[in-house]
Amino acid sequence: MREFDETSVTAEVLRRLEAAPAPRAREIIGALVRHLHAFVREVAPTEAEWAQAIDFLTRTGQMCDATRQEFILLSDTLGVSTLVDAINNRFPPAATPSTVLGPFFVADAPRAALGADIDGGDGSGARLHVTAEIVDLAGAAIPGAVVDVWHADAEGFYDVQRDGGKRRARRGRFTADGAGRVHFWTTMPASYPVPHDGPVGEMLAATGRHAWRPAHVHFMIATPGYRRLVTHVFVAGDRYLESDAVFGVKEALIAEYRAMPPGRAPDGTRMAAPYRTLAYRFVLTPEDPAGGKSPPAHRDGPRARHRSARPR
Ligand code: BEZ
Ligand code: FE
Repeated sequence: MREFDETSVTAEVLRRLEAAPAPRAREIIGALVRHLHAFVREVAPTEAEWAQAIDFLTRTGQMCDATRQEFILLSDTLGVSTLVDAINNRFPPAATPSTVLGPFFVADAPRAALGADIDGGDGSGARLHVTAEIVDLAGAAIPGAVVDVWHADAEGFYDVQRDGGKRRARRGRFTADGAGRVHFWTTMPASYPVPHDGPVGEMLAATGRHAWRPAHVHFMIATPGYRRLVTHVFVAGDRYLESDAVFGVKEALIAEYRAMPPGRAPDGTRMAAPYRTLAYRFVLTPEDPAGGKSPPAHRDGPRARHRSARPR
């Protein structure tokens, strides 16, 4: 009869994985066992702490449904989503960096015409005119890219968090023109807390962290021959840029949302009140820069959304 103790159990678990039919499964589960056992040895949890951890993970799972994904939020707030994003999107330094997708993307965003106002009419923030230019690494325009845009309102809520999530606002799917440009009107987004009324909120509180993300507009840009870019453009000067709850900020993604006096906007519109403008150049990475194999995109589909998730 073989017995296992704290010095021998790890090796035995790993030995039993050796017959795994899929080498990748053996690699992944083997690494999980090694790191998990090392973690347990380091932390030396009491049995009460072990039970607390099981309860935390159970409640994290129970919080998940079609509109709330607490496990992804846990991944986001522990920096794992940023790590997975970084590993899977190693773009050249001259390219626009990617960042986390977040839970508020919807795949069926309404098609929007260039120049449209995507605010939906109920936005209370300052008017914002956005011009996005999409270019390659040499600075040449890329015409015809599909550009998804989505962002929070002036109170920090996404459309999917309001009114049962039925009405679409501050999101749209554009097609870049022949000069690789997209332009539209909307309202200024505000910073907002990630959903913190569940286990992730408990984890943040227990570790003395806040739940806030700096204000930003999300962009997803896709066109044949280039790597899909999932990113945000953050508002320069936001107080949470240095402490984003999901570790998504990158220097190259911070831009001036310029405060403009009343007058003529970039598209010729006469503005009676002060407004803002954002002009941002997105530099896409070719699909296959060296003729080799590109790493796979790590997220193919939309994530379930935290629709009802914001405690007020
Ligand atoms: C977002 O930017 O929409 C987001 C990202 C991660 C977690 C929650 C929200
Ligand atoms: Fe967001």
